Amino acid sequence: MNEKAENIVWHETAVTKQERRKKNGHQSFILWFTGLSASGKSSVANALSHSLFQQGKQVYVLDGDNVRHGLNHDLGFREEDRKENIRRIGEVSRLFIDSGQIVLTAFISPYREDRALVRNLVEPDEFIEVYVHCSLEECEKRDPKGLYKKARKEEITHFTGISAPYEEPEKPEVVLDTEKHSIEECVEYLLTVLNQKQLI
Ligand code: ADX
Repeated sequence: MNEKAENIVWHETAVTKQERRKKNGHQSFILWFTGLSASGKSSVANALSHSLFQQGKQVYVLDGDNVRHGLNHDLGFREEDRKENIRRIGEVSRLFIDSGQIVLTAFISPYREDRALVRNLVEPDEFIEVYVHCSLEECEKRDPKGLYKKARKEEITHFTGISAPYEEPEKPEVVLDTEKHSIEECVEYLLTVLNQKQLI
């Protein structure tokens, strides 16, 4: 154990996760959206959060572009930085689960190992991996922030899909194809899955 982690004792909380879930009337869990930049992760996560919110659920979106402005503003896009990015998000997500909320995370999270680390951080039924599938060609065509263009010109380095890898999920719980289906269709499908799993 390193110096920093010594003399710290876990404090039992006065209100349990189960009590919070009971009050909220639904389970708490992570929907982990992973996929290339511009694949539609944030759009689907935000549309789903809106729908769940309207239904009175406790839901929050953690999004790569936003979290990197605050909590993770010290991190870049090299492999080690991305690992730390995902580790921190995993820990934050675990706190959200503990607080009885549904947390939707939208991060490229390109490495299998990093996603597995988060999966292992929580209970088996608390992590649902959603692979937002969209071909590189289509993502590059969408290029809403002009980043693919910059990456092709090597103005940005370590860009996922161009100069850095994306490791596709091997056994995701859900696969969405945003080339074939609209955002609304993806949201409908996810709501069906969550209902079937009796999570909401
Ligand atoms: S992750 O790989 O560490 O999970 P994250 O989802 O937080 O990435 O951030 C990705 C967002 O940062 C992209 O949507 C894009 O807007 C921006 N970005 C800037 N530089 C890069 C890069 N080199 N690779 C990928 N995304 C980048």
